[in-house]
Amino acid sequence: MAQRYDASWKRTLYCGEPKLEHAGKEVVLNGWLRTRRDLGGIIFIELWDKTGVTQIVFNPELNAAAHEKAGSLRSEYVLAVKGILRKRPDGTENTELETGQVELVVSDFMVLSPSKLPPFELDNPNVTVNEDLRLKYRYLDLRQEQMQKNLTMRHEVSRYTRNFFGDNGFIEVETPMFTKSTPEGARDYLVPSRVNPGRFYALPQSPQLFKQLLMVSGCDRYIQIARCFRDEDLRADRQPEFTQIDLEMSFITEEDIMSMVETYLLTLYKTVLGADIPAPVPRLTWHEAMNLYGSDKPDLRIPMAMTDIAEVFAGGENPFAALIASGGAIKGLRLPGGAVLSRKEIADLESYAKESGAKGMANFQIKEGELKGPLVKFLDEARIAKLKEITELEDGDALFVMADSSWRRACEILGQVRLELGRSRGLVEDTWKFVWVTEFPLFEWDEEEGRFSAVHHPFTAPMDEDMEYIKSDPGRVRSRAYDIVINGNEVGGGSIRIHDPAMQESVFEALNFTPEAAKERFGFLLEGLSFGTPPHGGLALGLDRLVMLICGAKSIREVMAFPKNQKAQCLMTGAPSHVENKQLEDLSVSLIAPEA
Ligand code: AMO
Repeated sequence: MAQRYDASWKRTLYCGEPKLEHAGKEVVLNGWLRTRRDLGGIIFIELWDKTGVTQIVFNPELNAAAHEKAGSLRSEYVLAVKGILRKRPDGTENTELETGQVELVVSDFMVLSPSKLPPFELDNPNVTVNEDLRLKYRYLDLRQEQMQKNLTMRHEVSRYTRNFFGDNGFIEVETPMFTKSTPEGARDYLVPSRVNPGRFYALPQSPQLFKQLLMVSGCDRYIQIARCFRDEDLRADRQPEFTQIDLEMSFITEEDIMSMVETYLLTLYKTVLGADIPAPVPRLTWHEAMNLYGSDKPDLRIPMAMTDIAEVFAGGENPFAALIASGGAIKGLRLPGGAVLSRKEIADLESYAKESGAKGMANFQIKEGELKGPLVKFLDEARIAKLKEITELEDGDALFVMADSSWRRACEILGQVRLELGRSRGLVEDTWKFVWVTEFPLFEWDEEEGRFSAVHHPFTAPMDEDMEYIKSDPGRVRSRAYDIVINGNEVGGGSIRIHDPAMQESVFEALNFTPEAAKERFGFLLEGLSFGTPPHGGLALGLDRLVMLICGAKSIREVMAFPKNQKAQCLMTGAPSHVENKQLEDLSVSLIAPEA
């Protein structure tokens, strides 16, 4: 008969707890066999649980029976171990381990569960395991120190979030998962309804419309740690299902929302990381962010900003003069110390700019006081002086120059070069840089659809002072939207919503929605808003992105227990999978393409 796991085998300490103060005591540990070494007849194992590891010693001279039994133990067996904790012999301490001063000398042990040979070695920092393999055996992947730390940090962030907003008068309200499509710009995941043949629910891209209706209901302050679903191309910071810290407030202006979220984020960082982020968080308008950093999510850890150098070339005899005359932009990016870049390095950067959509990229370098570069011959003394004045170019520096008929494209491409220089030349400062980006354009031109579309969503309020352009020049209208950006990542976004039906109508018109189309898609919201709507607004933070940054992880997959791969597949369960024909029939669904 196998031994039973009874109370006498229950742990008296976690594996990360034994310290010198426990030396001489009888201790029981429960956990997984992480590593095993056989040294001169003595067997050492490390027993792991989420708190750490303790070294266990099987010495044949002290306990021949236990040593003999230990011969069959393998990696990841689950054990209960009893013994006396002792100080390690002098010179054998491990200063890298919390428990490294002590070891457990076994008196008896029990195998609670054997393990097959794991497909990869756990907690070995010298081995890089293929991510697909990690995802297939995610439960093993999670049985590692870093992944347990990530899950725990995510829990701490969620817990802090619930407490913070609860303490500030927000209540958490759950909104449906089976709903009608919400317009956040991605494709919907659809769920066929069996009892309503031919009809589909959409999984929510966000709880946007529900939280607005909760404001109509008088909820005043709403928060939800909400699951969202978007069928879009996946990247390191995007998953098909992800989690938002979603909030909405009534009788407020943007200042109230921004200051609430700012206080939340700064106190969160202080609590979970001990980090002091300077308040207030700086603000940039969208135009400033694009103009200076070429991005609506600027990474301010890179101490470089772009300048406008059109006036250096305007009206002269040079390759850019015509472009400037027709309204084009010439942007400059100074790289301090960049005169050391070789021709090859500069050519590589130009190729990088071309991959990002540039036709070319010019450059200057100042070496021993002399300005060099292909454009120098077009510039007289006065223009060179102007160039140095605007860009603050000094001896030893380089300047990269991007000319384009579109201001936005010139900014965006040089912004990419800025990021590349930051990465490749180690210029990204080791710090936290928070920034608010405000005054986004309300609309952007959608080439494919041949019409304007909403940058955020169609319920975002325009800035009052720009309403006069809503018919004549919609592209010029700015919105009352704001994003919070941390270290170059868009962590959250929100806006003040429209609560005036006439304004909502003008926005729908600009978006080319007929009143019928608007009614068909969002009739329930519009009707709700007609029953007494308080001025309201809100914001949603990407919980996964926030935790990724806090954990220093490279992808949000590292902070999600069971994420999908880049093809939106769960390699562990095999989802999405084929289903029985009978299931499809029940749903009145037939496949038009043969199954792959
Ligand atoms: P938005 O679409 O900007 O706003 O989303 C808010 C935040 O959610 C995160 N996020 C994602 N995280 C992981 N994977 C994704 N696929 C993904 N998509 C978005 C980002 C983003 O900043 N309803 C509005 C909010 C509002 O106006 O109140 C909304 O959803 O961190």
